[in-house]
Amino acid sequence: MVCRNADPATLDPIERASIDELRSLQLERMQKTLQHTYDNVAAFRAKCDSKSVLPSDLKTLQDLALFPFTEKGDLRAHYPFGLFAVPRERVVRIHASSGTTGKPTVVGYTQNDIDTWANVVARSIRAGGGQPGDIIHVAYGYGLFTGGLGAHYGAERLGATVIPMSGGQTPKQVQLIQDFEPDIIMVTPSYMLNIADEFERQGIDTATSSLKVGIFGAEPWGEQMRHEIESRCGLDAVDIYGLSEVMGPGVANECIETKDGPTIWEDHFYPEIVDPASGDPVADGEMGELVFTSLTKEALPIIRYRTRDLTRLLPGTARPMRRMDKITGRSDDMLIIRGVNVFPTQIEERVLQQSGLAPHYQLRVSRSGNLDTLTVIVEAENIGAFEQLDAIGTSLKGEIKNYVGVSTTIEVREPGKVPRSEGKAVRVIDDRK
Ligand code: DLL
Repeated sequence: MVCRNADPATLDPIERASIDELRSLQLERMQKTLQHTYDNVAAFRAKCDSKSVLPSDLKTLQDLALFPFTEKGDLRAHYPFGLFAVPRERVVRIHASSGTTGKPTVVGYTQNDIDTWANVVARSIRAGGGQPGDIIHVAYGYGLFTGGLGAHYGAERLGATVIPMSGGQTPKQVQLIQDFEPDIIMVTPSYMLNIADEFERQGIDTATSSLKVGIFGAEPWGEQMRHEIESRCGLDAVDIYGLSEVMGPGVANECIETKDGPTIWEDHFYPEIVDPASGDPVADGEMGELVFTSLTKEALPIIRYRTRDLTRLLPGTARPMRRMDKITGRSDDMLIIRGVNVFPTQIEERVLQQSGLAPHYQLRVSRSGNLDTLTVIVEAENIGAFEQLDAIGTSLKGEIKNYVGVSTTIEVREPGKVPRSEGKAVRVIDDRK
């Protein structure tokens, strides 16, 4: 929409380096990280010993496959600080992600880690079209969640004016956007839609706001959602990816000139795709589970972390570094409805293509006898559409059956009656539990 490509002169030198230079930097950093983790994290050392593998066995990047995986369960088992590789006194910040059950996953950062994180988020914002001097409204939650503070430090590092609004207080979000005229908003895509609803409730066309770019992440969102947000809010929507165990937001970010999936900042995070069942690495271009090894982290170096996110690696376009395809879903979000694998994003695509419906939805899974049933809860765009809800429901049901392959019950609610998110959207309600 607006030409905001990064000026090549402002890129970090490694963003323009050759693949050979990048691979040799990765190998050197990976060797150091493995040694640092082996020397300082007893649980990792024990896993390596049981596989009879030593850091010195890593002679090439491919040798990484010899090393054990790290899973969320490992962080829980060593709760809270057991996987830290530096004395606790060197840890300057803690974050945690709650998850749905059990203890939170705790992560820690040294001052150098915080610096690296700010740098990769600044790079992410610049790739997304941000420039020094921009005003950036941060509506990711501040606190233990990495979204708010991660975005904040990166925006400051870029040289922007930061508005640390955090999530919630939706009418105030609108007021501050109207009064402070930010260039960029950083927020979950589902909460952006909620903010857009509030603009409209106040009789303001969201597209007339000062916002030029939205940097959206922390939850899956598809191309249909991008089109919906871009046309409704009059901005360029780019995808930011990250997870607390690996760093937080800014592990990868989409470049505004191509919008073709987040570029992975491979000088700090080494990606692999593995077969989710066997754990064997698959070739670039093939779908599977994303696995990351940190290359520069001190407090919580992470080796072969199984993200559960499903995607594939793609060659670089706007940068030489590889991209990841937009996340289709998480292996643990996949619903199996009468033998058919269903991801919420597949349903999202059909809902957003259906005229007369608002872009808010939830899925309810129930059991009737031995069979799982799926109800898609959607919302009429306006009262006029609500009167045609039978026709809309029938049409959506048919589309989902055709494209996703599963029979559903459609529940069309009145405008405003599907719960809104102020952070990560809750897409699935599982009544079987
Ligand atoms: O969500 C970090 C973050 C904050 C990323 C703000 C982007 C923006 P966690 O709470 O640890 O960290 O959740 C990580 O969220 O494994 C994915 O399943 C999902 N996720 C994050 N970004 C995206 C994205 C933050 N762009 C988990 N697309 C990850 C799809 C995403 N899923």
